[in-house]
Formats: sequence, C-alpha cells, structure tokens
Amino acid sequence: MRKGRFHKSVADIGQRYSESASFDRRLYRHDVAGSIAHAAALVKAGIVSAAEQKQIEAGLREIEREIDSGKFQWDESLEDVHMNIESALTKKIGDAGAKVHTARSRNDQIALDLRLYVKDQINRTSSQLKKLQTALLNLAEKNVDLVMPGYTHLQRAQPIYFAHYLLGQTEAFARDVERLRDCLQRTDVLALGAGALAGSTIVLDRAFVAHELGFSKISQNSMDAVSDRDFICEFLFCLAMIGMHLSRLSEDLIIWSTAEFGFVEFSDAFATGSSLMPQKKNPDMAELTRGKTGRLYGNLMSILTTLKALPFSYNRDLQEDKHALFDSVDTVTAALQIFPAMLAELKINRARMESAANDASLLATDLAEYLVKKGAPFRKAHEIVGKLVATAVKKRRKINDIPARELKKLSSLFDVDVAKVFDVRRSLASRQAIGAPSRKNVGARLDYWRKQLR
Ligand code: ARG
Repeated sequence: MRKGRFHKSVADIGQRYSESASFDRRLYRHDVAGSIAHAAALVKAGIVSAAEQKQIEAGLREIEREIDSGKFQWDESLEDVHMNIESALTKKIGDAGAKVHTARSRNDQIALDLRLYVKDQINRTSSQLKKLQTALLNLAEKNVDLVMPGYTHLQRAQPIYFAHYLLGQTEAFARDVERLRDCLQRTDVLALGAGALAGSTIVLDRAFVAHELGFSKISQNSMDAVSDRDFICEFLFCLAMIGMHLSRLSEDLIIWSTAEFGFVEFSDAFATGSSLMPQKKNPDMAELTRGKTGRLYGNLMSILTTLKALPFSYNRDLQEDKHALFDSVDTVTAALQIFPAMLAELKINRARMESAANDASLLATDLAEYLVKKGAPFRKAHEIVGKLVATAVKKRRKINDIPARELKKLSSLFDVDVAKVFDVRRSLASRQAIGAPSRKNVGARLDYWRKQLR
C-alpha cells in the first residue's frame, strides 16, 4: 500500500499506534464473505475473469480456514484485517489477488464488515434473550401458585404472584428483542460500493452484491455510507438497555438472597465465598452483571463521543468504534450465558415468600376498596383505613386482628364480611383487568409467552 507514494516506512511506534489488526481480525469471516461477493461483481463489470474469480474464491476460503484453525500468520504491520487478508491472497494467487480491491476502499469495506458483524450479533443476542425468557418462564411455571409481597420504594406494597414478577421481567426482555429487530432494519444496508466516499468510475451491480451478501437494502449516498455508524450507536444502546434490565433483575435477586429477605438462594455453582469470612456465600454473578452495566453505558458514550463533530464521510477516528462494539458484545454475551443457567438452579424459599405475602397490611388497599364498594368515596376510605393502620401499629396488632366493634367505630360500613378481605389469594383472584396479577391472567400470560417462544 505504501509502495508508490512513500519514501520512508512508517515509524514503529506509529505503526503500533495505528494498527487495528490485533482487534479487527475478529471480522475476518465477514471480510472474506465481502471480498468473495465483490470479486463476483468485478466479473460482472468485466474486470476479473471467471477463472480469476475461481482462484480468488478458493484462495479466500483457504485463508478463512487458516484463520479458523489458528494457522494464519497475522502481520500487524499490515495495519488491519483487510490488508492482512488481501496480502495473503495475493501471495497465494498472484495478480488475481491484486485485482480484488478494484473499485473498493477500506472505507466501504470496513462499513460492510461491521454491518455484517452487527447483523450476526443482533441474531445471536436475540436468541440468547429468548433463552433467558424461557428460563424465566420455567421458573414461573414451577412456582405458579407462589405468592409474595410486591414492593414499591422497596417497601412492602401489595401481594403478587412470584410468576407475575417473572413475567414482568419477560416483558422487558421481549422489548429488547423488539428493539434489536428494529435496529436490524437500519443495519441491514449494503455499504460496499461506496468506495472511499465517491463510488468508482467502474460501475458495479450493487443490487447483485446486496443479494449475494443477504442485505435487503442498499445505501443511497456514498458519503453517508462510509460515514454512518448510527447502527453501531443503536446496537450499543440496545446492549446497554439489556444490561440495565439485567442489572435490575440482578439487584432484586441480590436483595432477595440476603438473610433479611431469604426469598432465594443462589446455587453453589453460581455463588462465591469470602477469602476471610467462612460463612459467606456471595451473589457475585449478579453483582458483576450489575457492575458490567456501567461498561455498557460507557461504550455507548464512547461511540457517541467519537462521532460527535466528526467531519462527514470517513475519518480514521472511526476505527475506535470497534473497542466499544466488541466489548459490549462480549459483555452482554457472557451475561446472557450466565443468567439462564443461574436461574435454572436458583433455589426459591417458598415458605419465606408465602409468609411474607401473608402480611395483612399488604391488603390495606383492598380494605379501602371494600369500603368503596359499600359506597364510601375513595379518599374517605383511604383515611379510615389509615386510621385503622395507625391504631394497629399503636396496639402492636395486625390490621386483621382489630375487633369488629372497633372497626364499626371507624366506619359503619364495616360488616362481618370484612374478614374475607384478608385472604391473599382471593385478593389476587379479583385483580382481573388486563395486566393485573389474577391467577387467571398470570396463567394466560404464561401460555402466551410459551407460544411466542416456541
Ligand atoms: N481500520 C480501519 C477502520 O477500522 C479500516 C478503514 C481504514 N481506512 C483508511 N483509509 N485508513 O476504520
């Protein structure tokens, strides 16, 4: 590449500073696929013969196998994955190899490779998310009748089914799948053919290349094509969001695994000990997932900042997109591998959850609604039950232990049927509107997700 214009070779430190082969080599499969399709387009354009094309394809396949098996000799002084592969090809097949880069620049080549890579990762992440959803559903089905307190402000609020909680998490990850599918639309665009920034005097059949490489759209502006990294921003946002969702699930499990809650216990296989305190069992996998979310946010900020005020079309700054992209992919891939396995072995302390759910104060709102059904305006009912709670607290009693005559003093609307209010499962059964946690709704939603994920 430097043979013509340069008189002096690049300084060693300059070469090390600018090379990307050490990390962009992970794009080799996509790079090879792109070059094979490009060579086919060069045949159509009359630049490469059919015989040369055969040599090119066979050579590239061979290089791909060498890389697969770890035999390929990477040379970082060749800057990047593109030059490494091109130079190996030319060494193998001579002149035909030297024709492959006709009407192509590394600017459109890297845009192509990245889009192919992100498309693959979108599919992988989506199927990993579906496995996580399945693990959540399995846990929900195993504990379908288990009640627990639901929390707001991390204070006991109202009873729910544990399955309702898990189904709620499933909804969040379903949105992640949806978001990835949406991101795919803007990633699924062929950038190859844009050249350095202005296409080429050699006219390629881009529709043919798009078809060969499985792109459903073709970039319509060559400058934008080499400039655009929006799809990486969007993908990194999707991954950051997945991390955020995982961090919230992690946080709940961490809190629930404390002695104070005692709702769940991590399997030994997914917990660690303390080097000092022999009794400790720490939820490190969940903590690390919570922590790694910071990296995912950082990577999103990193790409956005790299792009900020960048002159239009290609600038070498864009090489920096890879660190953020690869790190987020690795981080989310690892977390999504851990979670389904960890959930499958999570021990649920049903007795603790059930007994916490039987805290009568969780049904204080039900009691107010009982009064509403008898004709009290809600604000009034809220105040009456508030007074009842205050009395109970003062007398160190539970709100369902206050005798009927004292209830009557608070409101004449209280009747003998009030005892029924304090049945948790009855309370849950009556929460029937769409999205509310009645047993029937929970069952229907379980069926729905089972079908969706099949
Ligand atoms: N390594 C470069 C990148 O990642 C590839 C494109 C380089 N183009 C160039 N004109 N130097 O963006």
